[in-house]
Amino acid sequence: MCGIIAYIGKDRVKDVLLDGLEALEYRGYDSAGLYIAGAGPIKAVGPVANLRKKAALMPDGNLGIAHTRWATHGKPSEANAHPHTGRGSIWAVHNGIIENHSELRQKLMGEGRVFASETDSEVVPHLIERAMERGASFEDAVFETVRVLKGAFGLAIAHRDAPDRMVAVRMGSPLVIGVARGGRIIASDAAPVIRHTRDVVYLKDGDVAIVSADSHRIFSFLKEAVSREGETVPFGAEEAKRGGYEHFMLKEIMEGPEVLRNAIRGRIAKDGWRVKLGGLESNDERLRSIERVVIAGCGTSYYAGVVGKYLIESLADIPVEADIASELRYREPILTPKTLLIALSQSGETADTLEAVREAKRKGAFTLGIVNVVGSSIARETDAGIYNHAGPEVSVASTKAFISQTAVLALVALFLGSQRNLGASRRKEVLEELSALPEKMERILANRGLVERIAKRYAESGSMLYIGRKYMMPLAYEGALKLKEVSYIHAEGYGAGELKHGPLALVSESFPVFALAPRDSVYEKTLSNMEEVRARGADVIALVTEGDAEASRIAKETIEIPETIECLYPALAAVPLQLFAYYAAVARGLNVDRPRNLAKSVTVE
Ligand code: F6R
Repeated sequence: MCGIIAYIGKDRVKDVLLDGLEALEYRGYDSAGLYIAGAGPIKAVGPVANLRKKAALMPDGNLGIAHTRWATHGKPSEANAHPHTGRGSIWAVHNGIIENHSELRQKLMGEGRVFASETDSEVVPHLIERAMERGASFEDAVFETVRVLKGAFGLAIAHRDAPDRMVAVRMGSPLVIGVARGGRIIASDAAPVIRHTRDVVYLKDGDVAIVSADSHRIFSFLKEAVSREGETVPFGAEEAKRGGYEHFMLKEIMEGPEVLRNAIRGRIAKDGWRVKLGGLESNDERLRSIERVVIAGCGTSYYAGVVGKYLIESLADIPVEADIASELRYREPILTPKTLLIALSQSGETADTLEAVREAKRKGAFTLGIVNVVGSSIARETDAGIYNHAGPEVSVASTKAFISQTAVLALVALFLGSQRNLGASRRKEVLEELSALPEKMERILANRGLVERIAKRYAESGSMLYIGRKYMMPLAYEGALKLKEVSYIHAEGYGAGELKHGPLALVSESFPVFALAPRDSVYEKTLSNMEEVRARGADVIALVTEGDAEASRIAKETIEIPETIECLYPALAAVPLQLFAYYAAVARGLNVDRPRNLAKSVTVE
């Protein structure tokens, strides 16, 4: 995820910026750049060390803005690295996604403005410069600009001819002002600020801050003065990287609502029932001819693929197979030009998934990558792509990637459905519910103390069984995988209907069962399965829809999630499962973010 650090003050700006960029490295990035007023910009692809080398030759100053970029629009390159400018007077660094960038860009190009990058961000300095050329002051030009931007943006902006101030803007992408002796810092999180000061002011959405070395004033987008209380950062530098959480895994689970917002941002048309996915729209004809879908992935991505199968079959009415990529590539699969192969991968580098893509291409299938890491091998080799925009996942266990994958797959299912027989009203219903998920997920996260208590209680279990039906079956697999990989507790996931066909023999008093039983079309059946295991003496931990007294009567422990439509329960249900595994691992004193024997990216077979 991109990082911002900007500084104005008495210290050596170059050092503050470069050290700040290094403190932001943990967020993941592919390129970096900085602008120092009076000294100009420098940019470099790769580690901050590359930028540092270039900076050695550059004069210092007392105002500068800098950025680590995690590509979203446009490949990693110097041209796409920030800061961006229009005609050289305004320089800006941006985190987030500007949804209406293409229409703004068209308009600005029509007026003769020349763009140097493929980024959505570049419209910002152009718009500010245009307003200034029409007579606005620096600040007024910023106010004018932010009012036309749609999407999420955290911005730090410098004006070549105004070295006494810079401007920070927050809308949906966090920014903090550090109040140090002799200067002020603007940053995307507290990590690069802490080495200078612990006194900070967190901006809120809709804030514009005008920042000089010894003061800052905050306004609304309508230029009304706003007051924000200062705070003292209560944690150290390492913790700051984890957003103040003890582990990256918890930080990443807590990012779920934001991840959902980023997955759907700009992808729902204004009419509320059309899905806008550039990678699919540009292949409209080819996708209409598809008669079968095969989804390939590994581990958690494969389980998201099973959710995708159910989504696409029910919303688009196309036969779908979800396949473990390592099986697909070796089992002589039937893939034809009328097959759509969807490769699901957080890293975009998983060897088996990449090989499945290559095999599908050899056989003439159309390939679509749903990938989080921009510019990764799968993103490059597939015929079309959709990025998750979930930001880097540092913890080995996939958490936010899974949530994002289920949301993107819902969008894909709706898109394919719209090409076939799926009516507008059903599409609208799903999209409205999808848009409501982030807030519902926030409610689940606010209740994480309960999951922690239950997880502690079962943290010494020898084995656990996870059961669920229909959309909850892949979630049962995923819950079991999460538990085993981070807590090393043996766990099995099963379709609840399979109980009597074998696994029921395992169930006893010392064998807790996690039952996934939201109020969906198979709810009654799952309830019967819960009765079955309880009758064998097992403790049942049930994940249920809010207010479900019936399931609570059977279960020993109940975790509630808000109501949604059946096909969207996976995103919500994933969160308590992730939290349960996390807290069980913490209770066992394990290295949650780096489980033994595992790597984040599996680039070998
Ligand atoms: C589980 C986990 C793994 C990955 C799998 C695929 O928590 O992280 O099972 O999901 O290795 O990785 P990607 O999605 O990068 O292809």
